[in-house]
Formats: sequence, C-alpha cells, structure tokens
Amino acid sequence: MRTVAHISDLHFGMEDERIVEGLSEDIADFHPSVVVITGDLTQRARKKQFEAAGAFIRKIPVPCLVVPGNHDIPFYNVFRRALQPLRGYRHSITTDLNPVFQDDELMILGANTARAAAFKNGRISTAQIKILADKFSAASSRLFKVLVTHHSFLPPLNDPHAALVGRGALAVEALEPCGIDLLLSGHYHRGTTGDLQSHYVAVKRSILVVQAGTATSTRTRGESNSYDRITIDPPDICFDRYSWDGRRFGKTMTTRYKKVNGAWCLDRIR
Ligand SMILES: [Fe+2]
Ligand SMILES: [Fe+2]
Repeated sequence: MRTVAHISDLHFGMEDERIVEGLSEDIADFHPSVVVITGDLTQRARKKQFEAAGAFIRKIPVPCLVVPGNHDIPFYNVFRRALQPLRGYRHSITTDLNPVFQDDELMILGANTARAAAFKNGRISTAQIKILADKFSAASSRLFKVLVTHHSFLPPLNDPHAALVGRGALAVEALEPCGIDLLLSGHYHRGTTGDLQSHYVAVKRSILVVQAGTATSTRTRGESNSYDRITIDPPDICFDRYSWDGRRFGKTMTTRYKKVNGAWCLDRIR
C-alpha cells in the first residue's frame, strides 16, 4: 500500500499565505509515501515566486516529484520566454524535467508539457513519449505505474471542450501497452476523476485520470482550494479530496475505484 499527496497549481505570487501554511501542516501530518506537484508553481514565473515555491517544497518531509506548468514560463518577457523559458524553474525548483519516483510498489514518471509557443495550452513531444514508453515498459508489471503532467488528457466534467495536452492521443496510443494505471494532472483548477476510455474510444486499457484543483491560489474558479490524498492498494484505489474551509483542510469527498477484470469500476462516492 502506498499513499500520495497530489497538489497542483500553487501559483506563488497569487497564493493565500494561510492556505500555504495549512497545506504544509496537512502534508506533514499525512506523511505520504510521496508528494506529487502537477505544475503552475508560480503566477508569473518571477524569481521571488520561484524562491517561495522552492522554500515550500524544501519543507516537505517526504520525497517530492514536481513538473512545471504554463505559468512557470514567463508570459510578458518575450526574450526569456523564447530563449530561457524554464530558467527560474530550473534554478529554484529542479533541473530534472523527466523526474522519476520508484520503490518496490510504485513507479511515477513526470513529463514537462509547458511550452513557450503553446501559451496556456501544453504539449508532449514524440521524444518524451519514447522516453516514457521505454521506462514504463522496462519496469516490472507488478509496479503500479503513474504518469504526471500539468496539462490533462481528459477534459473536466463541466467543460467537455476544454483544450487537452497536444499529441495526447499519440501519447495514449504509445503508453497504453506499458501498463499505466493512473494519470495525474492539474491546470483547470477543478478536481475531477474519470477513465481515459470515456474520451479515447480506441483505448483498450482502463486508465484512471485525476485532476487536482488549485491548492493555494486565490483564483479558484468556483471551487474551494483543495488537494487529493490517494491511497493505492491494488486492486483498490481511493481518492480523498481535502478542501480548505477558511481555517483548515478537511475531507470533503471520497471516490473509490476497484479494478475488476482489468477495468477500473467506481466502487463508491461519498
Ligand atoms: Fe493553474
Ligand atoms: Fe496551467
């Protein structure tokens, strides 16, 4: 059994400091096997914003896997946007744009989908797809395999026409045979769970997709700030959403799936 704290869209520069503090305390209490952060660490990719995000990450007392988001590329500075899009991220967060977490139950790979040319939308490259496919397929089939990106492969429930990660269909086709069970992302500032098969009709493997809401940004798009606690205990997986009530994070929704005959079946929502 493994536990993951999935947090996203911190947006330092537009963060609520009380929520940042509450989130730090909550993660320390939970003490998961690993923390996954699915991008948009900053609001405008400024040095001070990255430094604040870096300080937050360094306080996390467990391993942490991070990918950048579109907000981690400068928006207004055209020179830096074109020539050094992830300079601040590399300097204050990590130089590793293909992060890996692996133990004897879990394999998590991250991929950068933020692109200067794509503005708020994202893209995955054919080179990245090959790296991911090689790593996932070389790993034992006993591992629970997770792919982490900022941009999503599935639209949120209330916005079926939302832009998805570019070359997503190509990536899905290449990665499906590698035994992936879960895709984690953010970007929409709305928490959603679903199955990739609901959108990609050609996909034969049942793959869960989970988008976290924004953990600490003041731009909440109609949903409270939240993050997810994930308990992976195959064939069961449980997603507990923790939402900010103005004073603390508390559990507001539980979604359970069970894998039955190769398909993730919704077990219970409460
Ligand atoms: Fe965001
Ligand atoms: Fe984003």
